[in-house]
Order: sequence, then structure tokens, then C-alpha cells
Amino acid sequence: MDNLDGIIADAKANFDSITDLAALEQAKARFLGKSGALAELQKGLGKLSAEERPRAGALFNNAKVQIEALLQARREAIAAVALEARLAEEALDVTLPGRGRSRGGIHPVIRTWQRIEAIFRSVGFDVADGPEIETDWYNFTALNQPENHPARSMHDTFYVEGGLLLRTHTSPMQVRYARTHKPPIKVISPGRTYRVDSDATHSPMFHQVEGLWLDENVSFADLKGVYTDFLRKFFETDALQVRFRPSFFPFTEPSAEIDMAFASGPHKGRWLEISGAGQVHPNVVRNFGLDPERYTGFAFGSGLERLTMLRYGIDDLRLFYDGDLRFLRQFN
Ligand code: DAH
Repeated sequence: MDNLDGIIADAKANFDSITDLAALEQAKARFLGKSGALAELQKGLGKLSAEERPRAGALFNNAKVQIEALLQARREAIAAVALEARLAEEALDVTLPGRGRSRGGIHPVIRTWQRIEAIFRSVGFDVADGPEIETDWYNFTALNQPENHPARSMHDTFYVEGGLLLRTHTSPMQVRYARTHKPPIKVISPGRTYRVDSDATHSPMFHQVEGLWLDENVSFADLKGVYTDFLRKFFETDALQVRFRPSFFPFTEPSAEIDMAFASGPHKGRWLEISGAGQVHPNVVRNFGLDPERYTGFAFGSGLERLTMLRYGIDDLRLFYDGDLRFLRQFN
């Protein structure tokens, strides 16, 4: 029994030197376990005389209680240190700056689309929307391209089920609009168009804006005036020239390619092809359900990607559709 205090001191020193719970449980076995220090002493109890035994037993029990208390105290101390460390690690520093949210921007082609709408609305044009999946009649036949017309092969068409197709241009909107409105008709129709074509200057999906002005006495001169005014507003400069170059479209007669040239900037002095246009063909006016002897007018169809590229100095069409944020963010 003289050893008891020594064992207690030993246990305390041992427990205190331990910093993790698993090691502490092993140390427990050394003192309180079946073949631990106390168990060894316990064997000796039986050899004591009857008078000595109760006092020794009490001392022995007391030592056991003390060691258990030391063990428990050490367990709590280790847990407290662990909790402290976890709290320190998980602490929120509310003074740190926020992460911020990156804000999306309007795609440059859509920006062009919106600006075109605003410009034409400001001179009295309506804006019409129509289907991207079209019938052959609206996309071709009504526009003076009957079946087997050679001009149809100019368009590499995506055909879809049910005899329908993805519109190859926004021109079918002329017909849709003119058949449901009375002259004077003054409308633009921007939207998505599709052709089987894909390289640096062609995308299978692209955007056009169609324009139509039909009334009594609307002439080519009006086309030139309206379109030149549009270009000046769109490019925000009066210093540009416009010319008409003879061309061919089945739905117009005469037909023209509209070219423009900037007086300054990177394209200075170069003629740039900007739009197809023409006087609406009498057959098309008839398909509007109107009398071509009474109503004349002009139409144009311009590519939104082209206008956007010229406005922002972009030289590869594919940039519009790669979804690269480094490109798109520049338009935020
Ligand atoms: N639809 C033609 C194309 O996609 C563009 C066009 C040319 C539209 C002349 C017109 C026009 O309305 O008059 O190439």
C-alpha cells in the first residue's frame, strides 16, 4: 500500500503528458486495466491480515477513484483544447471583403438587335417577331422562288420533320406581316436564321434584320434615305458614304447590294458590303394580297453579326458563339 501515492503521481504525470484521446485510453489500461498497476496490487490484498485488510481496501479504493478522476480531468482538458482549436479554425472573419458576384452582360449581337429596333422605331417602323421554323411557302415560294427555282440553291437549307424548314432568312416575315396588316406597311423584323454553313465568316445560326416599307409611291430613293439614316445612327457618325450596287434577289426588282465606306477609322475608305435590298417584286406584292399597280416599296435584309463586327472591330465571327467570357465581358 505504500506504493499507492507513487502510482497516483505516476498516473498523473503520465496522463498529463498525453495530448490525444486514443493514447490516453491506452494509458488508462496501464493503471486501471486487468493487468494494470492497480490490479497487480489488488492481488496482494488477499495476503493481508483481517485487521489490515479494511484499511488497505479503503486506501486502494480511494487510489482508484483518484486515478479515475485524473483520467476524466485529462479527457476533458484534451477535449477542451480540441474544441478551442476547432473554433479558432472555423471562426468567421466578418471583416473580410465579400467575394462579389460577376454580372452578366448583353451579348454584342443582341445589343445590335436592340439598337436597330430603337433606331427604326424612332422613324416610325413597327417591330415584328415570327417563327424560326417556317413553311416552304413563306421561306421560298411566296418570295418568288417556286420549286426548282435555281435561286433556292443559294440557300443551304436545314429541313426539319413535317415538310418544314429552319428559315434561311428573315424575309418570310415580310409576307407574314404584309398579309396581316394594311398599308402603309413599315416594319422591321430582326431574328435568328439558319443555313448549313460553318467557317470563320459563316455560322449555322446567325441573325438578320428584315425591313419592309410598302405604300403608294414609296421608291428606291426612300430606301436610300432610310438606310443611310440608319447607318449614320447605328455607327454614330455622319461621315460615311453609301452606294447601291446592282445585284439579284428573286424577291426584288431591281435589286441592290448596299455598300458603305467610313471616312475614318480602321476601315477608312474601303467599300464594305452591308445589306441586300431592292424594290419589292410585283409577284411578292401579289402574295401579300395587294395590288402591285397600287403599292410599291422596298425591302432590305441585313446581317446583325456583320453590323456588330464593323461597329466593334471584331474580325472573327466565331467569337460571338464561343461563349468565352474574356470576350463577352468587354461588352458589359
Ligand atoms: N434575304 C436575303 C438574304 O438572306 C437578304 C435580302 C436581300 C432581303 C434583299 C431583302 C432584300 O428583303 O430586299 O440574303
